[in-house]
Amino acid sequence: MTPVDRPLDTGRLDLDLIPTHVGLILDGNGRWANARGLPRTAGHLAGEEALFDTVEGAVEIGIKWLTAFTFSTENWSRSDDEVEFLMWFNEDLLLRRRDDLDAQGVRMRFAGYMEDPRIPDRNREHMADSEERTKENDVLNLVFAFNYGSRREIVEGARTLASRAASGDLRIDDIDEDALQSALYIPEMPDVDLIIRSSGEHRLSNFLLWQAAYAEFYFPGILWPDFDRHALLDAVVEYQSRDRRFGTADDQPDSSP
Ligand code: IPE
Ligand code: MG
Repeated sequence: MTPVDRPLDTGRLDLDLIPTHVGLILDGNGRWANARGLPRTAGHLAGEEALFDTVEGAVEIGIKWLTAFTFSTENWSRSDDEVEFLMWFNEDLLLRRRDDLDAQGVRMRFAGYMEDPRIPDRNREHMADSEERTKENDVLNLVFAFNYGSRREIVEGARTLASRAASGDLRIDDIDEDALQSALYIPEMPDVDLIIRSSGEHRLSNFLLWQAAYAEFYFPGILWPDFDRHALLDAVVEYQSRDRRFGTADDQPDSSP
């Protein structure tokens, strides 16, 4: 029985404590490939299988939002070859995967600096098409954080609010957390409950800074291509053992999760 065929042991889960939103920092593709004497791009190819197995696991577990960091605003500084590969790959996987995701009831969404002239037009069109085609789905919101940087997201939101204030459409006193949330890439995206970063690194790397105010973190020591639905389940089980207090005192009986 391959790991993918092995049924997910959902009996380990507390169904009342399923995280609503899980963030994935996919890290370690390059190291996975290097360890096998392969080019870095082979690691990204292997990482695709890991991602979509994890998506199926998220559907089975009942997670409603899954955000995957597929290309960061800082990734442009990689070699030209790798950047070109990642642009092509991010586009190609949409075309190959979207019917299957659609059939699972997955709504595909994108968060990032999409007006960036460095993004090929065709890629931008395929993202818009995928979003449009799956917009009625409600089993899982799968967000591709593509050309995403959280500081930029917050700055763009601040700029939107400033221009509304300058035009008289928004009072300065009405600029609060809800107002800024409404100016982010996906205003209805809930706070992230659990962030998973593979590969043994312990960094946030400009991912969901605003949304992660009360996130729990989980750092499996495995490289991203070795991640799968079972690893996701392990992460959720660990998450369920955490005492989330959101700033309240630990002796308050009604303060968790
Ligand atoms: C993550 O793996 C791939 C992306 C989402 C771009 P890396 O390419 O960062 O792999 P390492 O960290 O070099 O091993
Ligand atoms: Mg890395």
